[in-house]
Amino acid sequence: MLKISWPQSLSGTVQISGSKNAALPLIACGLFFDHFTLHNVPKIGDVLTFISIIESLGAHIEWNGSTIIMDNSRLSIEHLDRDKIRKIRVGIFLFPALLARFGALEIPYPGGCNIGKRPIDEHLRAFQAYGYENMGEGENIAFQWADHGRDITLRANFAVTATENILMMAAFREWHTTIELAAIEPHVINLIEFLRSLGIRIDINTNHKIDIYGSKNVQKSAEATVICDYIESGTFVILGALTAEPSIRVVWARIGDLTAFLGKCGDAGVRFDLDYEHDTITVYNSCTSLRPTNLQTNIYPWFPTDLQSPFALMLTQAEGISRIHEVLFEWRLNWLIEVEKMKWHIAIMNPHEAMIFGKTHLKWTTVSSWDLRAGVTMILAGMIARGDTLITNVEYIERGYEDIVGKIAKLGGKIENV
Ligand code: EPU
Repeated sequence: MLKISWPQSLSGTVQISGSKNAALPLIACGLFFDHFTLHNVPKIGDVLTFISIIESLGAHIEWNGSTIIMDNSRLSIEHLDRDKIRKIRVGIFLFPALLARFGALEIPYPGGCNIGKRPIDEHLRAFQAYGYENMGEGENIAFQWADHGRDITLRANFAVTATENILMMAAFREWHTTIELAAIEPHVINLIEFLRSLGIRIDINTNHKIDIYGSKNVQKSAEATVICDYIESGTFVILGALTAEPSIRVVWARIGDLTAFLGKCGDAGVRFDLDYEHDTITVYNSCTSLRPTNLQTNIYPWFPTDLQSPFALMLTQAEGISRIHEVLFEWRLNWLIEVEKMKWHIAIMNPHEAMIFGKTHLKWTTVSSWDLRAGVTMILAGMIARGDTLITNVEYIERGYEDIVGKIAKLGGKIENV
């Protein structure tokens, strides 16, 4: 459980960690190689769970600071830890490399945060298009090699992990794949840049169309670097706007990935300076300048769904009515029910829309984190609630934010594990 006290006055510098959603596909892609080195890997719950699943395949993984060194030379699917796959969404990333290595794979349906329907039909369609027969029954997903390759055109419907899985399937076969309606989130581009560094030609065209000219994997080893997490930096920008005295600096912020977010911050009256050269955002306490703002989440490069809940929290501190429209996930406003305990003034209009009435003095209480992003928002809410806030289910937050408690404490925040 976390305990957060009031009042808060943060200053100093915070360094952003590697991105969860970039690290996971890169780790999975590492399974194509006997030796794989990955830098800037965040030590967070989802990464550690995924790594332990990969270890159950017989991989040997060593940490050196934030670098992992994987030895995959003796992989076998015999002892694959299927129970752990149920806990995270990205078990589905195991298919490209393990199908290439073993010709068949069966796993349980992946888990992950409860933020709405999370179908995997685009993934399954892709595996089939690549010549694998769908043998899955009930709760299991299973594919086995059935026929030979050909040029393929697939629609990813802007789904992030589906685009990443198709990229991995396409990169190491000697055929041409076109992905239409591809996701182009920064973590997708991170994977593309890594594949390009291996000599694979990948063209990103207009209209979210990506062409991959794959080639058989002949390399035994490879090396990649995880980009920093623009969602974490957006979260610290909001934290700074609410609690900095007078400012905090967010370093390795990925300013270029945050255009829509920072635009909305400007609309909402957040005061910040951008230093592109050092990729640093200096954010000033903005409590007296906040304005109500309407927000709609969308696929990249628009406002990210993963920053919707922290932004909504900030809007409780603006005088007037703000509207939130969560386009992607139908349960991603559910967490608002939990913060009613803190006396937020809100109206949930329907599963995708809510109104926030500000300005509110949040009340300290005990709240639970409902999912990763809602959980971190509870921390931010606790930082401005008058009194001691207790947060339960902290393991949700630890899935995606590296040492969040340590980082806030280093800025002078009154936060502790109890
Ligand atoms: N969708 C389909 N079919 C599919 C896949 C997705 O219809 O086969 C739909 C989903 O129902 C959803 C939408 O497409 O409505 C988005 O799904 P997407 O596949 O993009 O989401 P995801 O890959 O499951 C990733 C991130 C999420 C992030 C979303 C949106 C990873 C591991 N996860 O999820 O991150 O919210 O993209 O940007 O990259 C988080 O980090 O807290 C998180 C949930």
